[in-house]
Amino acid sequence: MRKKVLILGGAGFIGFNITKYLAENRDYELTIADNFMKKNRDDLFDELVSKYAIKVIEDDFSYPEVYNKLDNAYDQVYMMAALVGVDNANSKPHEVIRINTSLALYTLEWIRRSKIGKVIFASTSENYAGTVDAFGYKIPTRRKCR
Ligand SMILES: NC(=O)c1ccc[n+]([C@@H]2O[C@H](COP(=O)([O-])OP(=O)(O)OC[C@H]3O[C@@H](n4cnc5c(N)ncnc54)[C@H](O)[C@@H]3O)[C@@H](O)[C@H]2O)c1
Repeated sequence: MRKKVLILGGAGFIGFNITKYLAENRDYELTIADNFMKKNRDDLFDELVSKYAIKVIEDDFSYPEVYNKLDNAYDQVYMMAALVGVDNANSKPHEVIRINTSLALYTLEWIRRSKIGKVIFASTSENYAGTVDAFGYKIPTRRKCR
């Protein structure tokens, strides 16, 4: 049976590249969930979505009830949805905290009540830099640190 894979934030830079890679290299049933806040629904996106019959769920996942639009079983979930960028953090810090905290919390709550295989969470590059500071890892960090 084909694996079912959900890419939350699948219209973003990382999420879309993951989607593209999986569509072109794996026989998976793919779903993208995104609010398209960056208006980045370009020709390349539309082409890929229709060519590989990717399901698209367009909504704001910083609200818990929206998770009811997802199925309750996926083999893999990529959590790539976030409001990123220093400009956003400087100009609307409260909104950045609300959105990113809500996305993480409600995704975890949905995962807890669903049947999910692997979860891949991007976290943030700030953690990466913090880890380097905290543990004194050399750059580039080795793939197997511990
Ligand atoms: N670990 C690392 O080293 C590292 C490095 C870079 C980025 N990241 C993380 O990867 C993730 C993706 O980064 P990116 O560069 O692709 O960002 P991006 O802004 O291109 O993509 C984020 C996507 O999330 C969507 N989104 C935002 N709010 C949403 C909401 N409320 N509901 C639904 N969708 C929403 C946006 O529309 C966008 O398509 C971020 O969490 C980022 O911090 C991690």
